[in-house]
Amino acid sequence: MTSKTIVTILFVALLSLMMSIFVYFGNHNRDVSPIKPDWALVTSDADTIQFGFELYQKSCTKCHGANHEGTYSAPILNDDEWIYPTDRDSIFKIISDGTPNKTMRGWGTKLKTKDIQALTLYIMSLKKN
Ligand code: HEC
Repeated sequence: MTSKTIVTILFVALLSLMMSIFVYFGNHNRDVSPIKPDWALVTSDADTIQFGFELYQKSCTKCHGANHEGTYSAPILNDDEWIYPTDRDSIFKIISDGTPNKTMRGWGTKLKTKDIQALTLYIMSLKKN
């Protein structure tokens, strides 16, 4: 074997290793939330709604507005014209994973599961107008 052949073999081996690593780490579907909230632990009481309100004020007003009235960049959250389903699990999933087109990011990596649950219940508690 010439040294050129050895270098070629090493190069090809390295390339396949890099490709396997890329496929392995790149292939996981990050859209599927592994988070399974336990709703027995978080109920829609006054404390939870207050906690959800505070989290909303901290993280969500920039786009959805201080009074959920929406902005040019994000929809109103206290009307009947939602883009996505409005049941508890769907709202949780949107806040946790973000929306399918990713114009809203997912908060699952930033907030605790119980925070997202409180936000979900808070959003559900909003008066529709
Ligand atoms: C950077 C801007 C931005 C921030 C911050 C943001 N959102 Fe959103 N949100 C959006 C956009 C844009 C959409 C619409 C997405 C689409 O059309 O797919 C959306 C959609 C939603 C929806 C679905 C509304 C519908 O009509 O179906 C919910 C619920 C929601 N956001 C909750 C939240 C909560 C709770 C927070 C705070 C933790 C938050 N958002 C923070 C931009 C944002």
